Amino acid sequence: MKKNIVFALIAASLLTACASSGKSDKESKIEQKVDSVMKLMTLDEKIGQMVLYSSDWDVTGPSLKKGYIDDIRKGNCGNIFNAHTAAYTRKLQKIAVEESRLHIPLLFGYDVIHGHKTIFPISLGESTSWDLAAIEKSARVSATEAAASGINWTFAPMCDISVEPRWGRVSEGAGEDPFWGSKIAAARVHGFQGDDLSDTLTILACVKHFAAYGAPLAGRDYNTVDMSERVFLDMYLPPYKAAIDAGAMSVMSSFNELDGVPASGSKYLLTDILRTKLGFKGFVVTDYTSINEMVNHGVASTEADAGLLAVKAGVDMDMQGEVYFKYLKKQVEEGLIPGKMIDDAVRRILKVKFMLGLFDDPYRYCNEAREKREIYSPAHLEAAFDVAKKSMVLLKNDNNTLPLQKGEKIAVIGQLAASTRDLLGSWKAAGDWNFMKSTLDELKIYNGEANVIYAKGCKTSGTDRSGFSAAMLAAQRASKIVMVIGESWDLSGEATSRTSISIPGVQTELLEKLKTLNKPIVVVLMNGRPLDLSKESELADAMLETWFPGTMGGKAITHVLFGEYNPAGKLTMTFPRNLGQVPIFYYEKNTGRPLYLPNPKYKSRYIDCPNDPLFPFGFGLSYTTFAYSDIKLSTTELTEKGELKASVNVTNTGDKDGEEVVQCYVRDLVGSVTRPVKELKGFEKIALKVGESKVVTFIITPGMLAFHRLDMSYGTEPGDYKLFIGGNSREVKETEFKLK
Ligand code: BGC
Repeated sequence: MKKNIVFALIAASLLTACASSGKSDKESKIEQKVDSVMKLMTLDEKIGQMVLYSSDWDVTGPSLKKGYIDDIRKGNCGNIFNAHTAAYTRKLQKIAVEESRLHIPLLFGYDVIHGHKTIFPISLGESTSWDLAAIEKSARVSATEAAASGINWTFAPMCDISVEPRWGRVSEGAGEDPFWGSKIAAARVHGFQGDDLSDTLTILACVKHFAAYGAPLAGRDYNTVDMSERVFLDMYLPPYKAAIDAGAMSVMSSFNELDGVPASGSKYLLTDILRTKLGFKGFVVTDYTSINEMVNHGVASTEADAGLLAVKAGVDMDMQGEVYFKYLKKQVEEGLIPGKMIDDAVRRILKVKFMLGLFDDPYRYCNEAREKREIYSPAHLEAAFDVAKKSMVLLKNDNNTLPLQKGEKIAVIGQLAASTRDLLGSWKAAGDWNFMKSTLDELKIYNGEANVIYAKGCKTSGTDRSGFSAAMLAAQRASKIVMVIGESWDLSGEATSRTSISIPGVQTELLEKLKTLNKPIVVVLMNGRPLDLSKESELADAMLETWFPGTMGGKAITHVLFGEYNPAGKLTMTFPRNLGQVPIFYYEKNTGRPLYLPNPKYKSRYIDCPNDPLFPFGFGLSYTTFAYSDIKLSTTELTEKGELKASVNVTNTGDKDGEEVVQCYVRDLVGSVTRPVKELKGFEKIALKVGESKVVTFIITPGMLAFHRLDMSYGTEPGDYKLFIGGNSREVKETEFKLK
């Protein structure tokens, strides 16, 4: 069958009037086009569309499929991931559209998580910027670069809520909060997909990892997840829902089980929740070999059986597992799977290919000139610099140790200071660390080479102390010490769970030694998870959390340290005092024996550590200070159709212009089920000049107070509420209102 015959058939079917109801003209036209392709397809070719293989350009999982090029040619593989550049994707696309029988174009997926070439801060870092426009811009820039490099599908956003710092993948998420996580999920989808998937500057988003992957037992990656349905629906589901509401057209089923059922075989998750409850209209792809893994989970005795579970649950595409390729045809022929199920899956995949415009021009993402222009464009680097600065969180600043003064002599200590690779963090996509400058390079450029004395001191891991004395000598020659410590890039991301959340190696030991010099110490942290910083926060005079800040990270750190930019980031995950407090998060329940009642004995507490964390959710300092007035309410009685306005006056009381993230929390005091002690319901990031005041007003409506009630219905309950406003989840002003 020649390509022009396929397209002639498509055109002919377009002449048929659109009969379906409730669908837009565009949608109906696409469905007709899909039907006309479907009519031409053999069962083998249909199954081929349900197959996704990794190219050998990047390795993101345990298995690689050899011979994928031949599979494309034979129509056995309709989708590729881990391939990029306009030239290479063009080569593969050419095989699909010129050598395969039906000429159906390939989807090209890649983990463009926080940038494609220009790398932004890791996602957890971006979330601490509390700047939705900047986060959306980051996704847009990533899409623009990826789309110029042959990619049309990203495996992002990751929407997994997590309260588990042992789990290395918290670095890829938006933190612990469902409200903020939902806003970010929607912003990222919009950033990637724009308003129109057929725009060549946008790419398809993939909501992952569906679902509840962020709650593995003991923080061990891929481990069992078990939680009540209420917690799942109220706390874990909202960001996935927000991403789907924002128009994401693909979803990735996760590795984990939930309530005894692995996600890739869960009809409850993939059909009842995803399609029926959330109204998802795109296709579902597995996470890597998660179909095969159902044998290890122990819900199928063979891979073939696992495949049956997956198709029936609602998995449309098998990533890398080869299960669909090997077994589906026979299962359909034997009547184990209704042919319609396969048709529905293929329809969903082809629909997205049409939406992306791939049938109009399969090479629309393979444009070398565009690739050259877009990759590392000055505007993209500027955007990455902007988000990197915004993502940094000032955790401590005694005696105004920061900002540093230009021209003062500083000793810079630590392996991480001189590293470029680590700045990129995990999932760096096609990011290139040879292209960029380290923090040390940037400090020298800014402060003058003669004013920056560097000593490595020690590595981020191991017990080698041989560099300690050189570090001490360097520190003796300076007026301030800047020590860059933390985790190397490969300690967070996938498969990087830790049983310790301390700073690894002998870095803290060196910090202790430096402390004996009695010079002001600035600790610059690089890490992908909340760490136990109890010791370091005592030793440091100032402490700046910089995450893994990306391609422009070195310059961003420099600008924040020297006060060119006044930090305004706020934590989106609670930092515990020690691992024993984990899981710790701000929306905990009160318990029957809360600690605040008199007499601590027989209360819900530790006998060897306070209950509260080292740094709470929402926390972050500035080089200036802010004062909050008491809260003013427009009414103390919120009616079913009404709204309540809660206002505070915030004043910049320090001596520098700055920004503050004003946060609004609510507590439902009595419910048919117990309710969290605080839930974030709004925030506003404001800029205030020295001495300036602004009134910040939050609007609360009854819908914002809904939850899954005792009978599992979703809605509100009348009664008394507390409302809090402040600069973090711990230090707040407080008032009360009633929901009628
Ligand atoms: C990860 C996913 C990723 C996929 C493809 C898996 O191992 O869990 O997040 O998208 O690999 O690289």
